[in-house]
Amino acid sequence: MLLKFTRSIDEMLPLLMNGKEVKSKDPVYWVFSNVSKKWEHATLICPGDFGGEFPKTFGHYHTTDSIEKYKVLYGQGIIIMQKRKFIDDDWVPDQIEKVYFVEFLSGDEINIPPEWGHSCSNIGAEPLLLLDDWKGEEDYEPIKKLGGLAYFLVNKDGKAEFVPNKNYKDLPKPEWITASDFNKLSCE
Ligand SMILES: [Fe+2]
Repeated sequence: MLLKFTRSIDEMLPLLMNGKEVKSKDPVYWVFSNVSKKWEHATLICPGDFGGEFPKTFGHYHTTDSIEKYKVLYGQGIIIMQKRKFIDDDWVPDQIEKVYFVEFLSGDEINIPPEWGHSCSNIGAEPLLLLDDWKGEEDYEPIKKLGGLAYFLVNKDGKAEFVPNKNYKDLPKPEWITASDFNKLSCE
């Protein structure tokens, strides 16, 4: 296993709801590669306070048309999943068709279908350790331009609450769902 990269607070600042009140230390998370035959990456996200938000990964869309699989080895998290609209033969990044907050615990696996933007947050008091099998390409630009995904996950007295990102238009209300229920939906 090799350290692929770490994501610094400076890199994450454009994606935070309130970057002036970060109370945690660098880095925000670590990504390792060449984990095993089955798993390509391991991502470690420590607990923390990023201007009231839970620590999270940058977020991206995939540009390769296959399913990514995640497995939670340790911790408690939420993946925000968002599907952007496809209008006149093009993706419209600031118009979102559907948002799910997928809750997962240690042992859960989740399938990420193509076309869904996603970011993982650690909502627990301990580190969150995730595995994924992704070998394709990612597109971070639409998320960077819009200052994050459609919603921010904030820590309200230990519970996760959502705050809409005002850079998106007419956002649908997010739906909370378990990893197994999301997997059933994405197989339909
Ligand atoms: Fe991904």
